[in-house]
Amino acid sequence: RTTGDVTYDIGFMNTAGTRSAITFIDGDAGILRYRGYPIEQLAQHSSFLEVTYLLIYGELPSADELAAFDNRLRRHTMLHEDLKGFFGGFPRDAHPMPVLSSAVSALSTFYQDSLNPFDKEQVELSTFRLLAKVPVIAAYAHKKSIGQPMLYPDNSLNSVENFLRMCFGLPTEHYDLDPELVKALDLLLILHADHEQNCSTSTVRLVGSSNANLFASVSAGINALFGPLHGGANEAVLNMLRRIQAEGIKPEDYMEKVKNKEDGVKLMGFGHRVYKNYDPRAKIVKATADELLGKLGGNDELLEIAKRLEEKALADDYFIERKLYPNVDFYTGLIYKAMGFPEKMFTVLFALGRLPGWIAQWREMIEDPTTKIGRPRQLYVGAPERNYPLD
Ligand code: CMC
Repeated sequence: RTTGDVTYDIGFMNTAGTRSAITFIDGDAGILRYRGYPIEQLAQHSSFLEVTYLLIYGELPSADELAAFDNRLRRHTMLHEDLKGFFGGFPRDAHPMPVLSSAVSALSTFYQDSLNPFDKEQVELSTFRLLAKVPVIAAYAHKKSIGQPMLYPDNSLNSVENFLRMCFGLPTEHYDLDPELVKALDLLLILHADHEQNCSTSTVRLVGSSNANLFASVSAGINALFGPLHGGANEAVLNMLRRIQAEGIKPEDYMEKVKNKEDGVKLMGFGHRVYKNYDPRAKIVKATADELLGKLGGNDELLEIAKRLEEKALADDYFIERKLYPNVDFYTGLIYKAMGFPEKMFTVLFALGRLPGWIAQWREMIEDPTTKIGRPRQLYVGAPERNYPLD
C-alpha cells in the first residue's frame, strides 16, 4: 500500500533494499546458489573454507589461493588474553549466543587498527580476524557453559577441526578428531553460509550502512539470528520434539494444536518467507540425517517423531494451502545433538556457518558507491497534536 510518498510493506515482504551478486534464491522452485554455484554441488564437492573464499571474493580459489587463505586464517586464531577474561564475567548458565555477540562486539575495542570500513587493508584484516576468532569465541562460550577449561587453538588444524577440538577436547588428554564429525559439520556450515537478505544479514547491512565497523555490524547480526523465528529455530525444533516425546503427544494431536494456533504454537522448522517449496538445504540435511545419525549414534525416536510430523504436514491442507515445507532448521538440531552439542549451542553453530555470508554482504555494501544509510519510513498512527496540560 502506498500512502503519499511512503510504501507500507510490513516485514519488507516485497521491498528490495539492495542489489546483490552473492546469493540467488528462487523460492518457488527451491533453488539456492552461491555466486552462481548450486548448493547441491557445493555441498557435495566443496569445503566450508572454499565456500567462505567464494562468498567473500566472488570466485572459487585456485589451490594456491586457498592454501594462502587458510595459512593467513591460522595466524589469527588467538584471542587477546584480556578478551578471554571477558568470559568469566557472564553467569554460568548464560546462553552462548549473547556471549558470542558480546565478545564479537568487544573485538572493536581490542583490535582498533582494523575498524575503518573504507580502508581495504583494514577490512581485510578484520575479515581474517573475525573468521579466525569467532569459532574460538564460540568454543569458549561452550566451555564456559559446561565449566571446563578453555583450550588454546592448535594452528596445525583447520578452522572446523580446531573448533571441534576446542569444544570437546581437554588439556589433560589428546583429542582424536573423528573425520566423520569434521565432514558432517563442514557440510552443515556450507549449507548455512549465506541466504541473501534474511533478518540477520539485513541487520548486518543496516547497521553497516551507518558506516559502523565490521565487528559491530556482525555482532548485531548475531543478535538478530538469536530469535526463534530465525536461527533460534534449530534449538526450538529440538525442544518441540523433546516435548512431544516426553509428554507422549501423538504427532497428529500436535498438528491439531498447530493448526488451531493454540497458545501460538507453530511447527518449528517449517515455513519460510522465500521458499514456497521444499528448502533445498533441508533436502540435503534430511538425506544425510539418517546416515549421520546412524554413524554418530543419534536419538532415533526423535528422528522418527520429526519424520512423522513432516509426513503429516506435507499431506495436510493447512500446510499445503500455506505452502509450508521443512526449512533448514528442521533436521539440523538432531544432527548437532548427535555430534555432542547441547541445544544452547545450535544457534551458535548457525552463526559460525553464516559468518562468511555476513562478511561478504557487508563488504559488498561498503564497496557499493550507491549505498545509502538504511532508514525505513513509517505510517504515523499516534495522537494528533495536543497541548501539554498546564495544571
Ligand atoms: N507452523 C504453523 N503455521 C505456520 C508456520 C509454522 N511453522 N509458519 C507459517 N505458518 C502460517 C502462519 O500462521 C500464517 O497463517 P495464516 O495465513 O493463517 O495467518 C501463514 O502460515 C503465513 O505465515 P507467516 O508467518 O505470515 O509467514 P512469514 O513469511 O512472515 O514467516 C517464518 C516465515 C519462517 C517466520 C514462519 O514460517 C515461522 O514462524 N516458521 C517457524 C520458525 C522457523 O522455523 N524459522 C526458521 C526459518 S528458516 C531459517 C532461518 O531463517 O533462520
